[in-house]
Amino acid sequence: MVDAIHFPDVELYRGWGAPMRTESTLRGLELTQGAIPEGLEGALYKVGADRQYPSGRLDDIFIDGEGMIHMFRFKNGQVDYLSRWVHTKRYQLQQQARRALFGRYRNRYTNDPSVAGVHMGTGNTTAMFHAGRLYALKEDDLPHEMDCDTLATIGRSDLGGQVRAETFTAHPKVDPVTNELLAFAYQAKGDASRDIVYYLFDKDGKMREEVWFQMPYAACVHDFAITDEWIVFPFFPLITDLDVLKTGGPYYQWHPDQQVHVALVPRRGGSAKDIRWFKGPSASAGHMMNAFREGTKVHLDVCYYEGNCFPFFPTPQGVVTEAVPPLLKRLTFDLAGNSDGFEKRQLLDIPCEMPRTDDRYQGRPYRHGYVIAGRAPDGSSGTGHVDHVTGKFEMYRPGPGDSVQEGQFVPRSPDAPEGDGWLLVPVCRVHEMRTDLVILDAQNVAAGPVATLKLPVRVRATFHGSWVSEHALRTGQYEATATLGA
Ligand SMILES: [Fe+2]
Repeated sequence: MVDAIHFPDVELYRGWGAPMRTESTLRGLELTQGAIPEGLEGALYKVGADRQYPSGRLDDIFIDGEGMIHMFRFKNGQVDYLSRWVHTKRYQLQQQARRALFGRYRNRYTNDPSVAGVHMGTGNTTAMFHAGRLYALKEDDLPHEMDCDTLATIGRSDLGGQVRAETFTAHPKVDPVTNELLAFAYQAKGDASRDIVYYLFDKDGKMREEVWFQMPYAACVHDFAITDEWIVFPFFPLITDLDVLKTGGPYYQWHPDQQVHVALVPRRGGSAKDIRWFKGPSASAGHMMNAFREGTKVHLDVCYYEGNCFPFFPTPQGVVTEAVPPLLKRLTFDLAGNSDGFEKRQLLDIPCEMPRTDDRYQGRPYRHGYVIAGRAPDGSSGTGHVDHVTGKFEMYRPGPGDSVQEGQFVPRSPDAPEGDGWLLVPVCRVHEMRTDLVILDAQNVAAGPVATLKLPVRVRATFHGSWVSEHALRTGQYEATATLGA
């Protein structure tokens, strides 16, 4: 006999947050409005967290849970939808046991003794496509390779024996122009280790750069940013303490007394001794919009919190800090200056998160950014477009009570100008407990969808994802172009 399944009546699992727990296969989504743009062919892969079994804990957080990978496959005028669990070791063992075996978020000391030594990765954060292979990623484990067509799990991967770290970021940058993969691993030698490593892989997946260095503290490094010459690693004082983990505590603690540190690592040919370090007052961030170089200056555009971006990680004294709004700011590091400080300038006056760009312009001077913004007390939100040249900000709001998940830019063609294309946005039709995938004109999001594809099911949560063009699916390589300085 095993226990009956019962999720606790907590906010996390109410309403839209109710565990979905099922895989879906829909051959041909219903088109309820507009027309699917001609030439839009390829696959949108997105990944999020769902709940396989209740953990029995009341301190579950939304970023935990087993990975569910979703595919919207655009082909021949129709869109198919598939969702599949990421079959990590953790998922498999729980499936066999018919119950949760893993406890508090990333705290292996709270797990069932039967799974001691098992990797805790869930593959629940994003989908990466590189050199013809698709992966589901979660930053505390190695990637899990997935089948591009069926979403079946192929297995945990160290990228052909090349990755020596124990972890791998869930915010890699695949440059669709050079087809390089830029990535890193933090706490790379185990929980609370200060080791971090920067990786660059060429278009065929061969590792070309591997730079190990030490973080100032065992930080949370959820995201990073790239430029043509420098890679930007911000360290925020959400810090892991092994002794706290051993007593069943939270994976991170917020240290408002500690500074932000930023490491600029040469993109090519550098080593730890070539790193340039900067620091500033305590703050935090999860997500970077972009970075680029302007002469001797490096600019980092980031949804910046002047406080703790994850209030569910308290201070060492157990104080839960007040939520602060994420504001899009430009941090500027002057490599020719004498200061180890940095300038900070606000780019947008409304809070926003989950920033994205036309990915052909990652690491390059750019104009267009896309965000989730306008979150209202009822939970509703919209998709925003910021034009850094005109300063104009426009929004698409799907409807009362409805919210959006992160949008994905798709260029109209490989050589289309920056921002000329579409945004693919999952919309949570909260009152109907189902999802629409809407297609927005990325230059005119306020006009509303050019097409709406109806799902009769709910895409509970997706954090991030990738667009893989038909050409890239076929050849393993993107064929995008970008013009520097556009
Ligand atoms: Fe993220």
